[in-house]
Amino acid sequence: MTLAVIGGTGFGAFAGLAEVQDHRIETPYGSAEVQTGKLNGRSLIFLPRHGMPARKLPHLINYRANLKALEKLGATQVLAVTAVGTVDPALLVPSLVVPNQLIDYTHGRDLSFFEDEIHHIDFTEPYDPGLRLGILRAVDQVTGDYPDLVVAREGVYGCTQGPRLETAAEIRRLFRDGCTIVGMTAMPEAALAREMGMPYAGISVTVNPGPGLAPGEVVLEDIEAAMDQGLAWVKAILLEFMAAAA
Ligand code: HPA
Repeated sequence: MTLAVIGGTGFGAFAGLAEVQDHRIETPYGSAEVQTGKLNGRSLIFLPRHGMPARKLPHLINYRANLKALEKLGATQVLAVTAVGTVDPALLVPSLVVPNQLIDYTHGRDLSFFEDEIHHIDFTEPYDPGLRLGILRAVDQVTGDYPDLVVAREGVYGCTQGPRLETAAEIRRLFRDGCTIVGMTAMPEAALAREMGMPYAGISVTVNPGPGLAPGEVVLEDIEAAMDQGLAWVKAILLEFMAAAA
């Protein structure tokens, strides 16, 4: 089993990735920037979703090249770390969500590998149940060490097109639709992984109350503080997950 993590550009270094090698992997869909290295002595593939340095907005990410590059490097499962806003007013910031469902509000993205063949993947459960279970077991192992850690064991990820944040009315609509969190990158990533038969799961860090859920505008400095806390939790869960998979 070789785990690949797709996450924010600094997350590999933050998580303690050692013996890092930078790769530019060519695929039929374009190239991808990927790092390989060791985390606690075990091989890990890390793909900075927004590039190195971070520069690609969510709607401009080459999701197809990214997923194919991970497969080419030997990844057998993919964990997607994402920053999200809350949609369910009951969710805390920061907290973690292990989503089990999603709703796709994106448009105009390259969302399939099938171009001259009719093929419809089953996507009833967009996140791989087995990989989710492994993540939730790791969550259970680390919760004792982090008294402030709050994890929602299920969630519905609403994937918006961005790059702008949502209006307050859009957040209310997402909640009526059944979403609990909102981000911009889960799709088409999750669907492409399914097309490849690659188990894919996510951990989302809530970094801001959804627009309109708290007074005033979304403040970037607050997002950064929540992100730092959330990623420390994700790091602990990742290390535990890898140790358990050893
Ligand atoms: N909306 C969409 N994507 C996001 C948000 C948000 O409020 N916060 C972080 N990613």
